[in-house]
Amino acid sequence: MAHHALSESAYDRRRLRQWVRGEARTAGLKRRDMLGLLAAAGAAAPFAAAGSASAAGPASAGAREAPAAGARTVSAAAPGIVKPLPPELFTVRGTNAETVFSSLRGTGVLTPADRFFVRNHTSTPRIDAQGWELTVWGSGLGGGPVRFSYDDLRALPATTATAFVECAGNGRSFYATQQGQPVSGTAWTLGAIGVARWRGVRLGEVLRRAGVSRHAVDVLPRGLDDEVVSAGVNLGRVRRPLPIAKAMDDVLVAYEMNGEPLPPDHGYPVRLVVPGWVGISSVKWLGDIEVGDAPLYSPWNTDMYRLFGPDHPPGGSAPLTRQTLKSAFELDRDATLPARRPVLLTGRSWSGAAPVREVEISTDGGVRWRRARLHDVPRPGSWVRWSATWVPPAPGPAVLLARAADRAGRTQPEASAHNTQGYLFDAVVRHPVTVV
Ligand code: MTE
Repeated sequence: MAHHALSESAYDRRRLRQWVRGEARTAGLKRRDMLGLLAAAGAAAPFAAAGSASAAGPASAGAREAPAAGARTVSAAAPGIVKPLPPELFTVRGTNAETVFSSLRGTGVLTPADRFFVRNHTSTPRIDAQGWELTVWGSGLGGGPVRFSYDDLRALPATTATAFVECAGNGRSFYATQQGQPVSGTAWTLGAIGVARWRGVRLGEVLRRAGVSRHAVDVLPRGLDDEVVSAGVNLGRVRRPLPIAKAMDDVLVAYEMNGEPLPPDHGYPVRLVVPGWVGISSVKWLGDIEVGDAPLYSPWNTDMYRLFGPDHPPGGSAPLTRQTLKSAFELDRDATLPARRPVLLTGRSWSGAAPVREVEISTDGGVRWRRARLHDVPRPGSWVRWSATWVPPAPGPAVLLARAADRAGRTQPEASAHNTQGYLFDAVVRHPVTVV
């Protein structure tokens, strides 16, 4: 852990220097242009002001309007998502589908595929595993490109890992609704996360077999879904560099999710799973991986997935890596609960930095706190389920809160540090209910 924390921060510092010197160029697109684009996208869709969900993140192609938070439609349909999206399981937000958190109540640690959130920049491609190949290429290899078929990968030594995939913007809507701060991007509540048991080959193993050299610095996995067009600019296919240290460590080239082949929406035939890091790292529908002997760039590590705004460096923060700490109740917002009868409140907490250590809940808007009972042994890269009994005293509105601490010493603050694209929300979320 300590070793990786070090290499990650060294990597970020180096990147940041290059970024500030203007060395980053992304596929014919200048940073200035991207910043202008993003500003335009933000101005066009400030969901804080509109009070409704902005369908498209800055990088999303579709500019469809999603229903406002809470106003669930009967026939949920997201263009380009293959699996059914019944409204009791999903809230459709443009090309994406958010898990209804209350639908996780009673499920295990692993999120069933039928309720695992989907974040698509464009739409789910239908790929035939038999004709599919993964090409590994670039200046960071000792030789030329190396290709792996689906069967080649399945014949390599397999590893399984339980890990969450969570969007960097999970919780984003609370910047607006709780902190009064406008941000751009998909207005997720807390359901842009799922935990699965992934099976596949270590990326390090694939890279070694492809002849990775000791000069390799970054790897750039790229998806086979459509190119992303944002405000008329083609950003190319979804791709985001990973430092070689992380790539060689715990990243999986996954072909199974919860014991089944990956479903189409989650990356079939093969995706990356980058434990603990922001979801954009876990590239779906993997087609090729460039291995560079110099730092690699794409819009997804330069103009997006960094922290921008007055509280951050002019070129943005270092590229986002680890996810932050969050807690959520498995209960609908504005749920109705009977007075003077015990109710079992349940929920989950998770952190990208370390296992969760403790969860506390408040049923009086944050005046008094007590410990929740943890139902899982806390593990890195996963969540813990928790519960607490509450007897609502009298009819009327009430606000429930849950806050976690992790073993890295992190706690959930009252307010999250603002950034224009609304990433890494970690504050305690106020959960309103009505007691009757
Ligand atoms: N990979 C490709 N090729 N295309 C995408 O649109 N979305 C990313 C990542 N990988 C994306 C992708 C983002 S932003 C997230 S949060 C995760 O996939 C979501 O994974 P899921 O849809 O399986 O939940």
